[in-house]
Amino acid sequence: MDAARAHDPRVIVEAHAEGREVECSVIGNSEPETSLPGEISTRGAEWYDYEAKYSEGGMELAVPAPIGDEAVARVREPEWQTDPSGVRRRLEELGLPLFVKPARLGSSVGIAKVSEAAQLGAALEGAFAHDPLVIVEAFSAGTEVECAVMGLYEAEASVPGEVVLLKGAEWYDYEAKYSDGGVELRVPAGIPDAAAQQVRRLAVETFLRVGCAGLARVDFFVEDGRVLVNELNTLPGMTPTSAFPKLWEATGVPWPEACDRLVGLALERHRAERSGHAF
Ligand SMILES: Nc1ncnc2c1ncn2[C@@H]1O[C@H](COP(=O)(O)OP(=O)(O)O)[C@@H](O)[C@H]1O
Ligand SMILES: [Mg+2]
Repeated sequence: MDAARAHDPRVIVEAHAEGREVECSVIGNSEPETSLPGEISTRGAEWYDYEAKYSEGGMELAVPAPIGDEAVARVREPEWQTDPSGVRRRLEELGLPLFVKPARLGSSVGIAKVSEAAQLGAALEGAFAHDPLVIVEAFSAGTEVECAVMGLYEAEASVPGEVVLLKGAEWYDYEAKYSDGGVELRVPAGIPDAAAQQVRRLAVETFLRVGCAGLARVDFFVEDGRVLVNELNTLPGMTPTSAFPKLWEATGVPWPEACDRLVGLALERHRAERSGHAF
């Protein structure tokens, strides 16, 4: 870290390990004073403006096709207010159950599972309370799998880990994510080898297509014979319980080495940007 700092203090930001507060502020709140740039500046480090945009861009870009075009709809609040029956008709095509999500949030905040049509209105209202753009997805009964990625022009994916809910939660909701003993990451995931390979390939492809730099975590549903990208996290959690470090450890990359790689990637990107390359 000190060596990197000697070159550019901004490297600290990208490789910072004290992720819990940062992660919560980013994915749970978009107010400027509590967002990641605000958080970082209170720690006295400089912040790349474009990185904030970049990260939001990653979230937005993850929106259009989380589990395949035919199974996803986007609903904007004005449309719901002016033509609720039209929206209901459009969403009927997705079948039930449905997942209703604010488009640009995280931590499962504002998300609802809709098992009966009568629950749809409340679920949409709940999501619109956080974001005027909402995504509605068909339900996937697949195994939830997470895959860590590092890279820049090329990228490498970790072995996939499986989200195992421990307290009988029906899905990976806020309570399961943040209460003690709510979840366990099983590494490697209990999925067939072919599916694991596909997860790794798709994780790299997603990372490169969206134009990520440095690090990301790509989350999947692995169904029988189908691997679906659910979500791209452009700033994955970095707490002692977070998946990103664990997944690299399980891939044979000890955490200090992973940090070195991230610092190296940050420096490489910084050099490239100084010479005019835009990521
Ligand atoms: N289409 C879906 N089918 C089944 N479960 C889903 C679906 N979408 C989301 N979930 C459940 O909701 C959780 C949170 O959704 P996700 O899209 O990952 O949002 P967040 O950004 O809040 O983590 C997932 O981890 C999963 O348990
Ligand atoms: Mg998620």
